[in-house]
Amino acid sequence: MQRFYPDELIEEIRISNDIISVVGEYIQLKRKGKGFFGLCPFHSEKTPSFHVDPVKQLYYCFGCGNGGSVIQFVMGVENLDYIEAVKFLADKAGILLPEGEDEKYKEIARKKKQILKINVEAARFFYEQIEDEKNSFAREYLASRGIKRRTVRKFGIGYSLKDWDALYKHLKAKGYDDDILLESGLVLKNKSGGYYDRFRGRIIFPIFDLRGNVLGFGGRVLDNSEPKYMNSPETMVYNKRKHLYGLNFAKNSSHKRIIVVEGYMDVISLFQFGIINTVASLGTALTESQGRLLKKYTEEIIISFDADTAGKAATIRGLDILDSIGCNVKVLEMPEGEDPDEFVKKYGADAFNSLINKSLSLVEYKIKALKSEIDTNNTEGKIIFLNKTADVLSKLDNDIEREMYIKKIAKEYEISQESIYAEVLKRIKPKKGFRAVVTNINTKSRFEKDKGKDEYQRAIKNERILLSLISIDNSLFNLVKDKISPESFEDEDNRRIAKAVFERLNSNKGLVPAELINLADNKNSNIFTRLLQEECNFEDNKKAILDIIKKMELFKLTKREREILNVISNSKDKTAEEVRNMKLELQQILYKKKSI
Ligand code: UTP
Ligand code: MN
Repeated sequence: MQRFYPDELIEEIRISNDIISVVGEYIQLKRKGKGFFGLCPFHSEKTPSFHVDPVKQLYYCFGCGNGGSVIQFVMGVENLDYIEAVKFLADKAGILLPEGEDEKYKEIARKKKQILKINVEAARFFYEQIEDEKNSFAREYLASRGIKRRTVRKFGIGYSLKDWDALYKHLKAKGYDDDILLESGLVLKNKSGGYYDRFRGRIIFPIFDLRGNVLGFGGRVLDNSEPKYMNSPETMVYNKRKHLYGLNFAKNSSHKRIIVVEGYMDVISLFQFGIINTVASLGTALTESQGRLLKKYTEEIIISFDADTAGKAATIRGLDILDSIGCNVKVLEMPEGEDPDEFVKKYGADAFNSLINKSLSLVEYKIKALKSEIDTNNTEGKIIFLNKTADVLSKLDNDIEREMYIKKIAKEYEISQESIYAEVLKRIKPKKGFRAVVTNINTKSRFEKDKGKDEYQRAIKNERILLSLISIDNSLFNLVKDKISPESFEDEDNRRIAKAVFERLNSNKGLVPAELINLADNKNSNIFTRLLQEECNFEDNKKAILDIIKKMELFKLTKREREILNVISNSKDKTAEEVRNMKLELQQILYKKKSI
């Protein structure tokens, strides 16, 4: 994990931000027993499963498994990295961060803030222009496309004057210097060193983030000239691969699905027709970060493609990426020659909703795309289609789902179920242990292996509970330190965390659960939070930890015992002396095991 600041400082920042009040700024919390409950900001839900513990200063969602300290909370809800979240909380608590190493970072943060301010100024300026009587033609253009006055305000749509440097002059008068204006992307420099506006004579769509910051802009011409759209370049605050247009509105729609369309106008039109759970990818294929962002707010992502974008290899790759990070993706294909904006204006919201309901799953969509590019009127084409279809189906890991698709496809494309089955089966690797059914020996060895795996998982969990208990009650460390060393932790992450925990406690520094969470990386912080909240509620912590110590010792001994047995039974090349020594160690192990 990337760290800039000393642990003590991070801890001070954490302590200065009470988790209840920070979380309370984002969601409504209700007291229930010792804790607080609310609706999880990381997944959509109707009944509260998001729990905040004021004593442990931790949160945990029973619905989606997200959990951690106030730092992880801010990382998630503000979409920040670790250092940014620490900075954010330091700001909140009025804690001054040290100079020096941090200077570069502070400079970046300062510039980011300034660019955000410039963007707000610019958005206001553009909006004033669209309200201005002399630019009524811009308002008329929007009206001609069916955009209501109210919507113009809601989306902050504006107009950029045709003049070369109207915005530049306006911002200069506000005191911004040329360098930062260039960095904002709103201003460009010409060859003779003069400055001019990027957006001129265009309808302006500000791009907001989830907190309502203006990150950048898109600008559309009012006629048919080219380029139709200009967009802000990548800046310190805007990365088009990370943001989605309209998510600031869509995330509040409390729909279980979000529709991804291609353009600004699509989002805005659908919004006017009451379809408010819509975002735009702004003409590019969806990225993994956008997928993760969406996944926080919705269960199902419906991607709407214009007929000409659909089916392309790049498009399908994008969908596979979303699928691979666990998004439930469906595809909505627009009828030839229409985009959602035109469609909804022509046929209404009901018609668009029925397109949504007819959207295809990723598998169906892929197969449909195959069908459209392969001519299946001849035998050769039919075989190619069958093979490629089998490729797609064999990647499904759910048997029932696969069977359902095979039936559907057989019917739809007039191929026999048997031939699809045969091709799919050829492509599926026998599962591990597939042959185990054949002979007893293999069955047994596989069983033994699985048993070992479970034991291992339990051992790792015990290690985590041990660390959690220590963080809840530091005095328990005295029971642990002479019996267990950090090196003897089985799991690599646990070993690293244990090292840090032991170091702190050995030097008489305290440790609280939230710090333990910070020592774990993102994946493990959720696991630790769950353990801390749900499992570390023993009647007697001392007894619990002694029990775990025993189990850890037993696990170690059993592991060594197995190793020795393995070597003895496979060793023709060992001397009698070596074998004798090993047998001796074995006896000692058995003795130790009994005495535990
Ligand atoms: P479209 O050409 O579908 O535009 O491009 P649109 O949103 O339907 O706009 P209207 O209806 O013609 O006004 C989809 C998106 O691709 C990006 C824009 O984000 C646009 O909304 N795009 C398109 C560009 O960035 N530059 C372009 O020149 C064209
Ligand atoms: Mn359009």
